[in-house]
Amino acid sequence: MSIEAHGGILVNRELKGAEREEALAKATTLPSLTISSWAVSDLELIGIGGFSPLTGFLGKADYESVVANTRLADGTIWSVPITLSVTTEEADKYQIGDEIALKGEDNVIYGTLKLEEKYAYDKELEAKKVYGTTEEAHPGVKKLYERGDVYLGGPITLLNRPDHSDFADFYMDPSETRKMFADLGWKTVVGFQTRNPVHRAHEYIQKSALEAVDGLLLNPLVGETKSDDISAEVRMESYQVILKHYYPADRTRLVIYPAAMRYAGPKEAILHAIVRKNYGCTHFIVGRDHAGVGDYYGTYEAQDFISEFESELGIQIFKFEHAFFCTKCENMGTAKTCPHDKENHVHLSGTKVREMLRNGEKPPKQFSRPEVAEVLIKGMAVNS
Ligand code: ADX
Repeated sequence: MSIEAHGGILVNRELKGAEREEALAKATTLPSLTISSWAVSDLELIGIGGFSPLTGFLGKADYESVVANTRLADGTIWSVPITLSVTTEEADKYQIGDEIALKGEDNVIYGTLKLEEKYAYDKELEAKKVYGTTEEAHPGVKKLYERGDVYLGGPITLLNRPDHSDFADFYMDPSETRKMFADLGWKTVVGFQTRNPVHRAHEYIQKSALEAVDGLLLNPLVGETKSDDISAEVRMESYQVILKHYYPADRTRLVIYPAAMRYAGPKEAILHAIVRKNYGCTHFIVGRDHAGVGDYYGTYEAQDFISEFESELGIQIFKFEHAFFCTKCENMGTAKTCPHDKENHVHLSGTKVREMLRNGEKPPKQFSRPEVAEVLIKGMAVNS
């Protein structure tokens, strides 16, 4: 039997076949709202059940409860509010009870919203509670401050999915990954979130976890990220290369997580764990500074925070300390397993690594597999 979805039921808000055709035809006659690609990805994740138990964009009671207590109004753990923002002028155009066609910037109707609530919200409070800072230099807070002043709440229906044709082989619904794990005979599966190429430290913690479970779901986030992160296209190529050369094919699967990155550190670690639970993972990795950015969060703040909820989360958390290559041990380790001084540890900052790659220089092989570095150098040269 597979792991229960968060809240008990795997949500499916997508219409298919004749029902979809009908709803799409009707949607062209509805009042419409153009939403950002970020909101489209939220719509998609609600629709396919990645954000179970959410069935729509949060209403006021759920929103306030998530911000204040990391729980939906009914007590279910939820950490990052999934909301649909509009300007006050836009909000005035719609009446409670309206069905609204949600269009992307490409004019495609992705779904509909049954408007149940319109409400104002406190951006600074959300910033402080969800991101732990009100500084605009934080990329998640910056996005929040740019949003309209009103949230629209209500259930959604998904009618079209965003185009994932670039990664078609690696796109699966939560119901499909669940079936895949069952078909593979994996009873325990560890999910791995990343927005970076897989370096040796990532590989080390993934494989340490894989020693204890049946399978690894490498589940990179491919939605919107900040501009200096390496693009999803280049990363996807690098994942395929490292899997091919260094991972057991029968115990590893690569599937994309089509969400936007919030950089909300501890709060996002909980969201990431919940989503992987919905995809059918029994375990989830939280390493050092999970979903962090700059110096906004302590190295193990995400681990400490998720620990408070772990007994209720319904997915087990594998926590790993900062991993590195030790030249004395001649292998990877952490402070837990390596007795040597820091001088023996190969350490490179993300900024330094990106700079090396941009200059066509391979980072040391103790940091990055050469095959991965090659893909990144090529990819970054093309994209620059
Ligand atoms: S994240 O924003 O998606 O968390 P990243 O892709 O760097 O960023 O990290 C993916 C996962 O690996 C996270 O759980 C993170 O905590 C962990 N991680 C990254 N680097 C290390 C490291 N050197 N040691 C231990 N864990 C790490």
